[in-house]
Amino acid sequence: MDMLRIEDLSLSYGDKPVVQNLNLRVKKGQAVSIIGPNASGKSTILKSIAGIIKPAGGKIFIEEKDISKMDSKRLAQKVSILLQQNRTPDDISVEELVYFGRYPRKKWFEGFESSDKKIIEEAMKLTNTFALRDKTLETLSGGERQRAWIAMALAQEPDILLFDEPTTYLDLAHQIEFLELVNRLNKETRVTVVLVLHDLNQAARYGNYLFAMKDGRLFAQGSPQEVLTPQNILSIYNIEADIINRPDRLVVIPR
Ligand SMILES: Nc1ncnc2c1ncn2[C@@H]1O[C@H](COP(=O)(O)OP(=O)(O)OP(=O)(O)O)[C@@H](O)[C@H]1O
Ligand SMILES: [Mg+2]
Repeated sequence: MDMLRIEDLSLSYGDKPVVQNLNLRVKKGQAVSIIGPNASGKSTILKSIAGIIKPAGGKIFIEEKDISKMDSKRLAQKVSILLQQNRTPDDISVEELVYFGRYPRKKWFEGFESSDKKIIEEAMKLTNTFALRDKTLETLSGGERQRAWIAMALAQEPDILLFDEPTTYLDLAHQIEFLELVNRLNKETRVTVVLVLHDLNQAARYGNYLFAMKDGRLFAQGSPQEVLTPQNILSIYNIEADIINRPDRLVVIPR
């Protein structure tokens, strides 16, 4: 069974079409990357999966259930999204932020229980933010803050994690640290991961399957080796590139 199945999806802002006739499938436990130039529709796709924007046409299924028939709370139990720009409430602590992740799991009259506390602690430990739990977000470095957001996303206990360019504001060490963490969570918890990444080498390394968007359409999909060919890179980015293809790693070098 597919964890995520997108069928003939079209997305638009007002009457401006942004994504057209998109079909894609992601199996449970897969980690996939979406690549493509600016404005090719990547963020819009993630937002539609999280129910933030409604399709102009087509359907999105999570475990074969049509998300247009799920209420928003039910969907939030299944899908966690980290947007490109997270609006950070600066004066709350890491622990408070992570608690927010539990809200989709609670009924309005329920308080937090020891089981919630355990999940929250676990999420902070997995992301190495437990020691930071009493610090407010404004006092953290960009990388620490990013980890706190991941902890919140994990506390939600989602089936699918959506990350929109999560490494943009991170230095190289924190980029690697973040991607390794996501990789580990994917392997250990079998959470399905969809990453939007600009860095093709990172996309190839951390996504075992790639979707390449161009002008709102799915241009290519497959393994990094299948998608990241000089020809495709020329078509998608208008860039001449050489590919170094090692068994363990694919590297794209723009000429
Ligand atoms: N809220 C919005 N209202 C109107 N148009 C929008 C809105 N958000 C995005 N768009 C437009 O939709 C198109 C696709 O945007 P989207 O953000 O999905 O691209 P992207 O592939 O994520 O680009 P980037 O790599 O720059 O993040 C762009 O032309 C953009 O200008
Ligand atoms: Mg985007």
